[in-house]
Amino acid sequence: MVCLFLLIFLPCAFSARILGVFLFPSYSHQKVFQPIWRDLSLRGHDVTVCTTTPLNDPNLTNLTEINISFQHDNTQHAPPDFLSKEINMFEDFHNIVNYMDFIAATALTHPSFKNFLETCAENFDLIILECLYPVLYGLSRKFQAPIACVSSLGALTVFQDVVGNPSHPTLYREFFVTLHHPDLDLWHQSELVLLNLWSRFWYEFVVLPRGAVLAKSVFGHEIGDTLDGEKSVKLFLLNVNRVVYHPRPNVPAVLELGQMGLKPKETLREDLQTFLDQAKSGVVYFSLGTLVHLEGSSIGRTILEGLARVPYKVIIKWNCSTLLHNYTNILCREWLPQTQILEHPNLKVFVTQGGLQSLEESISARVPLVALPFLVDQPMNVYKLVKQGIGKALNPVTVTPDELKDCVVEVAENRTYRDRVVEIRGVLLDKATVSTEKAIWWMEYIIRHKGAPHLRSLNVDISWFSYLLGDVIALFVVGLASTCLCFYYLLKLFNYNL
Ligand SMILES: *[C@@H]1O[C@H](CO)[C@@H](O)[C@H](O)[C@H]1NC(C)=O
Ligand SMILES: *[C@@H]1O[C@H](CO)[C@@H](O)[C@H](O)[C@H]1NC(C)=O
Ligand SMILES: *[C@@H]1O[C@H](CO)[C@@H](O)[C@H](O)[C@H]1NC(C)=O
Ligand SMILES: *[C@@H]1O[C@H](CO)[C@@H](O)[C@H](O)[C@H]1NC(C)=O
Ligand SMILES: *[C@@H]1O[C@H](CO)[C@@H](O)[C@H](O)[C@H]1NC(C)=O
Ligand SMILES: *[C@@H]1O[C@H](CO)[C@@H](O)[C@H](O)[C@H]1NC(C)=O
Repeated sequence: MVCLFLLIFLPCAFSARILGVFLFPSYSHQKVFQPIWRDLSLRGHDVTVCTTTPLNDPNLTNLTEINISFQHDNTQHAPPDFLSKEINMFEDFHNIVNYMDFIAATALTHPSFKNFLETCAENFDLIILECLYPVLYGLSRKFQAPIACVSSLGALTVFQDVVGNPSHPTLYREFFVTLHHPDLDLWHQSELVLLNLWSRFWYEFVVLPRGAVLAKSVFGHEIGDTLDGEKSVKLFLLNVNRVVYHPRPNVPAVLELGQMGLKPKETLREDLQTFLDQAKSGVVYFSLGTLVHLEGSSIGRTILEGLARVPYKVIIKWNCSTLLHNYTNILCREWLPQTQILEHPNLKVFVTQGGLQSLEESISARVPLVALPFLVDQPMNVYKLVKQGIGKALNPVTVTPDELKDCVVEVAENRTYRDRVVEIRGVLLDKATVSTEKAIWWMEYIIRHKGAPHLRSLNVDISWFSYLLGDVIALFVVGLASTCLCFYYLLKLFNYNL
């Protein structure tokens, strides 16, 4: 506690100029990064941040926030295929990178971002980016600064490649694949290897060149024709935890954080507090986060019907103007203070889409889950929560109202789920350092040591052929073949009849 106090409240010995660019229009991403930019500014650094969710705190005098909340409109344009369960991993990869390109393009070509670039005369000492948009590597050349990448979850292999983090296609699987069983058959293993090769090929020959064209048009000709993440990214911070993600080997530039979210200062409004206090039979909380919108769809109607049948009170985060009935047990709000609701003693079950932040908050509040996974990392998170015994999963495409009701009742009434959550919570929260503190220390380290070139892994600079020892293997094969040939001709020479 003393250390935390010292690090956060004692100003740092130097003041740096830091730029943060966080384009993704989702609260669950932004809240992971908020404590980073808040605490950097409190330590006396001059921080400028482009964000869709500004803190808007007048006390943070060293912080300039550029509000790009217009990006929220873009979540309406998520590819519809995202919500299909039948989709294969290759399409999933394409959906993700295309969506990210779309998000980056709309943000960077918007007048408020252009205006920022034009008015920003000085250089920076560090640039902090969400590691999803290669086009932003161009900022490193524009402002002559090293980059620290952060992610609100894990990261795709193609992004980890910039710091040379070792990857293995079947052991350390992409977070969006749905193949999580530890012992995959040969067919599925081959599929994962092909996905790994294909995603790297597509990234190198399509995504990067496309990003380079956009970068040049936005940041100016001086940044050149290529995007060189390998030269500019010095640090890679991942918000992964030991409950959902497998342990894996990381190079020194990759750090694992976990539980980064800033707890909002919101309090329960009086009507919510009364609703929760008076629900003696218990409360179920339902939210699909910020990216999944089912209002008006048949899946949405099925879920509401199931929730209306449970023998508890229900709080839902939903677009309330689309409700066709007044359900007697349901309270609907467009926005809810999730952490505070989960921490209420009457709360029995969280019905969720299985996003990482929701999962961590639920475990911290000791609440078991019923999960309806939709996209990206949600199927993986949900596979893990079922495996850990802290909840149950349902397929949102095929679920019926009664299945959902029975599942919620089972998780609410059977003690084993809650007991497991308490156990898993111990694992999740047992950490040597507060994650924000670790993130800040390493970012200042990168600034102090001018990009810390001594952290750079050897993997970054050698070709894949040398990495896989192709030349050595070739030498062995040639050596072995020539030896065999020599023997063959020697024996022939001495007239052995072969
Ligand atoms: C702003 O930065 C200065 C040093 O640059 C520091 O002394 C001051 O405490 C900071 N103020 C806040 C509110 O963070
Ligand atoms: C950001 O901008 C939007 C739209 O201009 C506005 O509604 C919102 O209140 C702003 N957010 C903050 C925290 O200033
Ligand atoms: C700013 O600081 C003052 C005095 O410490 C405090 O009363 C106020 O709540 C703070 N404002 C915010 C938005 O945190
Ligand atoms: C809620 O639904 C109504 C009716 O479909 C729509 O007009 C409105 O934009 C929606 N609100 C939000 C916040 O999505
Ligand atoms: C639900 O009830 C409220 C007030 O009791 C009423 O204004 C509203 O029209 C009702 N909605 C529906 C869909 O019946
Ligand atoms: C409670 O759940 C556990 C794990 O799913 C199961 O083994 C057990 O039989 C359940 N108990 C009851 C009383 O249903």
